[in-house]
Amino acid sequence: MFVIGSGGRHLEGPLKAMGGRILEVEIRKFPDGEKYVRVADFPDEVTVVQSTFAPQDEKLIESLLIADALREGGVRRLRAVIPYMAYSRQDRASREGEPVSIRAVLRALGLYYDELYVFDIHNPGTLSFFPGKAVNLSPARAVAEYFGEKLGEGTVLAPDKGALERAKAVAERLGLDYGHFQKVRISPTEVRMTPGDVEVRGRNVLIVDDIISTGGTMIRAANLLRDMGARKVFVAATHGIFAEGAIERVSSAVDELAVTNTIPTPVSRIDLTPDIMRLSSGP
Ligand code: R5P
Repeated sequence: MFVIGSGGRHLEGPLKAMGGRILEVEIRKFPDGEKYVRVADFPDEVTVVQSTFAPQDEKLIESLLIADALREGGVRRLRAVIPYMAYSRQDRASREGEPVSIRAVLRALGLYYDELYVFDIHNPGTLSFFPGKAVNLSPARAVAEYFGEKLGEGTVLAPDKGALERAKAVAERLGLDYGHFQKVRISPTEVRMTPGDVEVRGRNVLIVDDIISTGGTMIRAANLLRDMGARKVFVAATHGIFAEGAIERVSSAVDELAVTNTIPTPVSRIDLTPDIMRLSSGP
């Protein structure tokens, strides 16, 4: 049985269409801005689906309120599916006095939830901050299914070394080559990129990353690929955070841009609901 938070509403239709049973939940705001939550049923096991895109803090608090209500009502096993995990990029304290924000968030969720499932979290190592069972799900199946035919005998590319495992997971499903570029971030909006040892001349290329924010990384990689003689350039990311104008900027630099539906956006065409559906009967 699923409970859908306000960050999971875009997934409710697809989950229902696949036979998912959704529990009724009332979620509204008090005039002062605080959240009100009321759950109607208390089965033995519940999976709360709550992606924590902006406004992130509201959705996180809602996840705690829903869990508190479910636990008090007698739910025995509580699972959180957080397709996009907010605060995941704040994974270290670089100056004295800073928190490790993702640690604070995962510890708070751990007060209530037995299990946590996320998709492609920025730093999988941070999941150890969650006290229960925590699983980082890969979007590779869905990305490979979506782009496989368009890509043909092409190459899968990571825009930096950190994304290589993502590119590899997609490439291996399709039986294709993969590689990575080298990326150095100069400022939050500027990156410098250099080609690694990857042959793309005359080939279609799919660039795969976890997040698109300003689009700077993807645009740099796409332009470099064009200079290197790539044929078609496709872009896939798990989480389309998209700063103002980023969808248009990336779209105009590539042949196709598509992200998964961890966050609802106009280009969230890669569907992860089959992977979520599978969790309700245990991964
Ligand atoms: C960085 O390490 C991430 O994996 C992404 O490459 C980054 O968040 C993308 O940001 P932007 O779209 O602003 O270049």
